[in-house]
Amino acid sequence: MDATALYKFQSGLYVVSAATADDYGACVINTGLQLTSTPLQVMVAVNKQNHTQGVIEKAGHFALCPITEEADMLYIGRFGFRTSTNFAKFDGIERRETILGDPFTPTASACVLACEVVQTLDVGTHMVFVGEVKDAENLSDAKPMTYAYYHGTLKGKTPPKASSYVAE
Ligand SMILES: Cc1cc2nc3c(=O)[nH]c(=O)nc-3n(C[C@H](O)[C@H](O)[C@H](O)COP(=O)(O)O)c2cc1C
Repeated sequence: MDATALYKFQSGLYVVSAATADDYGACVINTGLQLTSTPLQVMVAVNKQNHTQGVIEKAGHFALCPITEEADMLYIGRFGFRTSTNFAKFDGIERRETILGDPFTPTASACVLACEVVQTLDVGTHMVFVGEVKDAENLSDAKPMTYAYYHGTLKGKTPPKASSYVAE
Protein backbone atom coordinates (compact mmCIF):
# COMPACT_ATOMS: atom_id res chain seq x y z
CA MET A 1 0.00 0.00 0.00
CA ASP A 2 1.26 3.49 -0.86
CA ALA A 3 0.03 5.79 1.92
CA THR A 4 1.34 8.82 -0.02
CA ALA A 5 -1.86 8.42 -2.10
CA LEU A 6 -3.51 10.28 0.78
CA TYR A 7 -1.33 13.32 -0.07
CA LYS A 8 -3.91 13.94 -2.85
CA PHE A 9 -6.57 14.74 -0.24
CA GLN A 10 -7.12 18.50 0.10
CA SER A 11 -7.47 20.28 3.39
CA GLY A 12 -6.88 23.56 5.15
CA LEU A 13 -4.87 24.38 8.25
CA TYR A 14 -6.52 25.47 11.49
CA VAL A 15 -5.70 26.33 15.08
CA VAL A 16 -7.99 24.52 17.52
CA SER A 17 -7.89 25.69 21.12
CA ALA A 18 -9.68 25.28 24.43
CA ALA A 19 -9.48 26.35 28.04
CA THR A 20 -10.68 25.10 31.41
CA ALA A 21 -10.58 27.15 34.62
CA ASP A 22 -6.87 26.41 35.14
CA ASP A 23 -5.47 25.13 31.84
CA TYR A 24 -5.50 25.74 28.12
CA GLY A 25 -4.16 24.27 24.91
CA ALA A 26 -3.91 25.27 21.26
CA CYS A 27 -2.53 23.39 18.28
CA VAL A 28 -2.42 23.29 14.50
CA ILE A 29 -4.62 20.71 12.81
CA ASN A 30 -5.48 19.97 9.20
CA THR A 31 -8.61 18.06 10.20
CA GLY A 32 -11.15 20.86 10.56
CA LEU A 33 -14.30 20.17 8.55
CA GLN A 34 -17.85 21.48 8.33
CA LEU A 35 -20.25 18.54 8.81
CA THR A 36 -23.76 20.02 8.65
CA SER A 37 -25.45 23.39 8.33
CA THR A 38 -28.64 22.65 10.34
CA PRO A 39 -27.51 22.60 13.04
CA LEU A 40 -24.17 24.14 12.16
CA GLN A 41 -21.63 21.47 13.10
CA VAL A 42 -17.90 21.05 12.51
CA MET A 43 -15.39 18.35 13.46
CA VAL A 44 -11.75 18.25 14.47
CA ALA A 45 -9.44 15.23 14.95
CA VAL A 46 -6.87 15.78 17.68
CA ASN A 47 -4.04 13.42 18.64
CA LYS A 48 -4.36 12.00 22.17
CA GLN A 49 -0.71 12.95 22.83
CA ASN A 50 -1.43 16.63 22.13
CA HIS A 51 -2.07 18.62 25.29
CA THR A 52 -4.96 20.35 23.52
CA GLN A 53 -6.86 17.04 23.19
CA GLY A 54 -7.25 16.59 26.97
CA VAL A 55 -8.19 20.22 27.44
CA ILE A 56 -10.98 20.00 24.83
CA GLU A 57 -12.25 16.81 26.47
CA LYS A 58 -12.37 18.45 29.92
CA ALA A 59 -13.71 21.80 28.73
CA GLY A 60 -16.44 20.38 26.46
CA HIS A 61 -15.92 23.22 24.00
CA PHE A 62 -13.30 24.56 21.61
CA ALA A 63 -12.44 27.45 19.31
CA LEU A 64 -11.57 26.82 15.67
CA CYS A 65 -9.73 29.29 13.40
CA PRO A 66 -8.64 28.70 9.78
CA ILE A 67 -5.04 29.94 9.42
CA THR A 68 -4.51 32.49 6.62
CA GLU A 69 -1.61 32.79 4.16
CA GLU A 70 -0.32 35.65 6.37
CA ALA A 71 1.08 33.00 8.74
CA ASP A 72 4.80 32.21 8.45
CA MET A 73 6.73 29.18 9.70
CA LEU A 74 7.32 30.86 13.09
CA TYR A 75 3.56 31.07 13.53
CA ILE A 76 3.10 27.42 12.47
CA GLY A 77 5.98 26.47 14.79
CA ARG A 78 4.36 28.24 17.75
CA PHE A 79 1.06 26.34 17.41
CA GLY A 80 2.10 23.21 15.49
CA PHE A 81 5.54 22.14 16.69
CA ARG A 82 5.62 23.25 20.34
CA THR A 83 3.45 21.98 23.17
CA SER A 84 1.23 23.97 25.53
CA THR A 85 2.63 21.89 28.42
CA ASN A 86 5.88 23.92 28.42
CA PHE A 87 5.25 26.86 26.09
CA ALA A 88 2.74 29.71 26.47
CA LYS A 89 1.36 29.77 22.95
CA PHE A 90 -0.43 33.12 23.22
CA ASP A 91 2.49 35.07 24.73
CA GLY A 92 3.53 37.95 22.45
CA ILE A 93 0.52 37.57 20.14
CA GLU A 94 -2.95 39.15 20.34
CA ARG A 95 -5.23 36.90 22.40
CA ARG A 96 -9.01 37.01 22.55
CA GLU A 97 -11.67 34.66 23.93
CA THR A 98 -14.81 33.19 22.37
CA ILE A 99 -18.17 33.42 24.14
CA LEU A 100 -17.46 29.92 25.50
CA GLY A 101 -14.18 31.11 27.05
CA ASP A 102 -11.69 29.51 24.66
CA PRO A 103 -8.58 31.51 23.72
CA PHE A 104 -7.76 32.33 20.09
CA THR A 105 -5.68 34.84 18.19
CA PRO A 106 -7.13 37.06 15.43
CA THR A 107 -3.58 37.22 14.00
CA ALA A 108 -3.46 35.22 10.72
CA SER A 109 -6.95 33.82 11.45
CA ALA A 110 -9.64 34.05 8.75
CA CYS A 111 -12.50 33.60 11.21
CA VAL A 112 -13.28 32.07 14.58
CA LEU A 113 -15.94 29.55 15.57
CA ALA A 114 -17.03 28.95 19.16
CA CYS A 115 -18.03 25.27 19.36
CA GLU A 116 -19.66 23.13 22.02
CA VAL A 117 -18.68 19.44 21.90
CA VAL A 118 -21.81 17.38 21.12
CA GLN A 119 -20.16 14.07 20.17
CA THR A 120 -16.78 12.42 20.74
CA LEU A 121 -15.40 9.49 18.78
CA ASP A 122 -12.26 7.55 19.73
CA VAL A 123 -10.46 6.64 16.49
CA GLY A 124 -7.28 5.20 18.05
CA THR A 125 -4.41 7.69 17.96
CA HIS A 126 -6.86 10.61 17.68
CA MET A 127 -10.14 11.76 19.21
CA VAL A 128 -12.75 13.22 16.90
CA PHE A 129 -14.77 16.03 18.45
CA VAL A 130 -17.99 17.12 16.79
CA GLY A 131 -18.75 20.69 17.73
CA GLU A 132 -21.99 22.61 17.41
CA VAL A 133 -21.19 26.18 16.40
CA LYS A 134 -22.53 28.61 19.00
CA ASP A 135 -20.90 31.72 17.57
CA ALA A 136 -18.96 32.65 14.43
CA GLU A 137 -17.08 35.79 13.40
CA ASN A 138 -15.13 36.75 10.27
CA LEU A 139 -11.74 38.20 11.17
CA SER A 140 -9.86 38.74 7.90
CA ASP A 141 -10.25 38.73 4.10
CA ALA A 142 -6.83 37.13 3.66
CA LYS A 143 -6.84 33.74 1.91
CA PRO A 144 -7.20 30.70 4.17
CA MET A 145 -4.08 28.55 3.94
CA THR A 146 -4.37 25.15 2.24
CA TYR A 147 -2.21 22.19 3.16
CA ALA A 148 -0.87 22.29 -0.43
CA TYR A 149 0.27 25.91 0.13
CA TYR A 150 1.90 24.90 3.41
CA HIS A 151 3.88 22.13 1.69
CA GLY A 152 4.53 23.91 -1.62
CA THR A 153 5.14 27.55 -0.67
CA LEU A 154 6.17 27.42 3.01
CA LYS A 155 8.02 24.10 2.46
CA GLY A 156 6.49 22.92 5.75
CA LYS A 157 6.77 19.39 7.10
CA THR A 158 4.06 17.18 8.63
CA PRO A 159 4.86 16.15 12.22
CA PRO A 160 4.12 12.60 13.49
CA LYS A 161 1.08 13.67 15.53
CA ALA A 162 -0.77 15.00 12.49
CA SER A 163 -3.52 12.70 11.16
CA SER A 164 -1.93 12.89 7.69
CA TYR A 165 1.60 11.88 8.79
CA VAL A 166 3.28 9.28 6.58
CA ALA A 167 6.54 7.78 7.91
CA GLU A 168 9.42 8.27 5.41
C1 LIG B 1 0.92 21.16 9.34
C2 LIG B 1 0.51 20.49 10.63
C3 LIG B 1 -0.64 19.73 10.69
C4 LIG B 1 -1.04 19.12 11.88
N1 LIG B 1 -2.20 18.41 11.92
C5 LIG B 1 -2.62 17.86 13.09
C6 LIG B 1 -3.89 17.22 13.19
O1 LIG B 1 -4.67 17.14 12.25
N2 LIG B 1 -4.24 16.68 14.39
C7 LIG B 1 -3.42 16.77 15.49
O2 LIG B 1 -3.78 16.28 16.55
N3 LIG B 1 -2.21 17.37 15.43
C8 LIG B 1 -1.80 17.94 14.26
N4 LIG B 1 -0.59 18.58 14.19
C9 LIG B 1 0.34 18.50 15.35
C10 LIG B 1 0.07 19.45 16.49
O3 LIG B 1 -0.19 20.77 16.03
C11 LIG B 1 1.32 19.45 17.41
O4 LIG B 1 1.54 18.15 17.91
C12 LIG B 1 1.27 20.47 18.53
O5 LIG B 1 2.60 20.71 18.97
C13 LIG B 1 0.43 20.03 19.72
O6 LIG B 1 0.41 21.07 20.68
P1 LIG B 1 -0.21 20.84 22.13
O7 LIG B 1 0.59 19.77 22.81
O8 LIG B 1 -0.06 22.17 22.80
O9 LIG B 1 -1.63 20.43 21.95
C14 LIG B 1 -0.22 19.25 13.03
C15 LIG B 1 0.93 20.07 12.98
C16 LIG B 1 1.30 20.68 11.79
C17 LIG B 1 2.54 21.55 11.76
